[in-house]
Amino acid sequence: MLNLDQFVADCRAALGYSTPEVAVKEIVERAVASPSEVEAALGTPREGKIGVLHHDRDLTILNVVWTPGMAVYPHDHRMWAVIGLYGGREDNTFYRRSPEGLQVAGGKQLETGNVAVLGQAIIHSVANPLRVFAGAIHIYGGDFFGTSRSEWDRETLQEQPFDVARARKVFADANERWFAECARTS
Ligand SMILES: [Fe+2]
Repeated sequence: MLNLDQFVADCRAALGYSTPEVAVKEIVERAVASPSEVEAALGTPREGKIGVLHHDRDLTILNVVWTPGMAVYPHDHRMWAVIGLYGGREDNTFYRRSPEGLQVAGGKQLETGNVAVLGQAIIHSVANPLRVFAGAIHIYGGDFFGTSRSEWDRETLQEQPFDVARARKVFADANERWFAECARTS
């Protein structure tokens, strides 16, 4: 089973490197190379959530579980991020700003065992296209909850301040939809 205290300590130690995101990527790669060990430590994903494993000014470590079929609107982080999957799949769509607004600039499918580093200027949206929960470890080189940043409305793509409560509601709504669907089809 993954030792979470050691994992957090290793990530904190990586902050002393000149490129902490590269060191953190290696730590996360080692962890998700044994997905069942991560799942044993974090619990089998049973509902979508933004779980907090560590939160400080210079480092935030989240256990993000994506509900089947859910998607979050485009947003930025304004800090580096490392994302590792220990279950399911996370489809990332990347965007760039343009005079006409936000434009799609590529995408990346992350599957179990995959790890990605996102630069601090990255704008992305995320979807779980599968009918199973996706389990991820997200590590941010800063205060994920206290840093001013942007999100874009899903339909109008209007930029607005990122709102953590709104993001949590996306997870709550997705859980409600999923469990209602499961109840209908069981
Ligand atoms: Fe994100």
